[in-house]
Amino acid sequence: MRNFSVVQYNVRYFTRYANYNGVLLGAYRTDMADETITDKKSQHGEWSSRFAFIMAATGSAVGLGNIWKFPYITGENGGGAFVLVYLLCVLLIGIPLMMAETMLGRRSKENPIHTMEILTAEAGADKNWHYLGWMGVGAGFLILSYYSVIAGWASAYVVKSFFGSFSGASAGEVKAIFEAFVASPMQLIFWHTLFMVATMLIVARGIEKGFEKSVRFLLPWLFALMVLLVGYAMTTDGYFQGLNFLFKPDFSKLTADSVLVAMGQAFFTLSVGMGSIMVYGAYLPKDVSIAKSSMMIAGADTIMALLAGLIIFPIVFNNGLHPNSGPGLVFETLPIAFGNMFGGWLVGILFFVALVFAALSSSIALIEPAVAWLIENKGFSRQKACIYSGSLAWVLGLGTVFSFNAWANVKLFERNFFELVDYLTANLMLPIGGFCIAVFAGWIMKQEHSKHELDLPGEHLDYQIWKFLVSYVVPAAVFLVFLNVVGVL
Ligand code: PHE
Repeated sequence: MRNFSVVQYNVRYFTRYANYNGVLLGAYRTDMADETITDKKSQHGEWSSRFAFIMAATGSAVGLGNIWKFPYITGENGGGAFVLVYLLCVLLIGIPLMMAETMLGRRSKENPIHTMEILTAEAGADKNWHYLGWMGVGAGFLILSYYSVIAGWASAYVVKSFFGSFSGASAGEVKAIFEAFVASPMQLIFWHTLFMVATMLIVARGIEKGFEKSVRFLLPWLFALMVLLVGYAMTTDGYFQGLNFLFKPDFSKLTADSVLVAMGQAFFTLSVGMGSIMVYGAYLPKDVSIAKSSMMIAGADTIMALLAGLIIFPIVFNNGLHPNSGPGLVFETLPIAFGNMFGGWLVGILFFVALVFAALSSSIALIEPAVAWLIENKGFSRQKACIYSGSLAWVLGLGTVFSFNAWANVKLFERNFFELVDYLTANLMLPIGGFCIAVFAGWIMKQEHSKHELDLPGEHLDYQIWKFLVSYVVPAAVFLVFLNVVGVL
């Protein structure tokens, strides 16, 4: 079938927007009444309720970023001061950006690339803005490639827990199990493949059917397990040391690069800066408050990360381990708890299962921008779009697999493949994407449109605060952090 889709904006105006093989045919009426564009619905359907959107977006936000990445980068960057910068970034950069992204997506109801095309036309701005959408799709791919590998580790740990590999294990034994595991490319490839196929299968089933339901019971489950584990951590001798490490800022440990990493983590963990949330916004019914939803999502995400820190650092100090042991930190610490606490066998299995599901609800968000684009612009079926994008990310993921064994010492700019992809995406692409989204929402988009979409309750003041943050604070912060890293400041 030829790829020809016509999206009807509003019958009243007989205005049509036609798209033939990615070439925009129809003229876009920039003088359209405001409700014209917002009356449109996404061709992929809509969330059944505000709650469904919040759960799905929280599912995208909560994942390996909170439980695997936050603890290990906090450990590498000295603790308290890093956490403080991260929290500030979530509040002042992450939340306003999440609102901006949701708003852009909801306004256009299309994939990120298309969204930028439509909204630049609407604002009468330069066409080059659609490259922003491209960067987002690219960042999603790159992140997914290594995300799937690490989620594969978590999947393998479900099985290891089930077979009692950690029962009664000492810190040294747990570390040895992890090291033996990552030394084997075949094992990593097996689990990476399994996770990627699962992601593709879920996304192929479509937005509502696919994951709305599973995420709904999964997140509370993960939360409950984490609270239980904090309870365990409180009984260990390392608890106060862990608490101190996490919350007592020592600014002498903060370098320019660690500020960049903290900022990058705020983007990564909230899934902002790459259009993922834009896609979710596209499926959002128009009567849902974007501000309230964004704050709830960011709040839930932050709580999960802090809980992970509260569990992991006490175990680190209690067992004489080092906070800066890198990407293996979670896998070298949590099993100690599972192996030695009452009911740990079951808790361990349930925890890793929940973690895999949390990772799945994030990987789905990583692949969705590309899939939506292939469907909308290239006329692919959902299945075909999933197979193409998932396979490409899978191949890229092999680079990460080998970064933990055969290529561990193959380095460029002092970083191996995994570290490079991580740095490039979380610390460069997402902040640059966020910078551009902020500039677009704050400066390019017509004020009446952003006001209409955001529909903030406190009318003037709330809107002004948001506008100030996206127009000035976000761009300036990203810019200053970059200058600082390259040594100009
Ligand atoms: N926020 C996810 C996590 O913390 C990762 C992610 C990043 C998902 C960007 C989607 C987009 O695990």
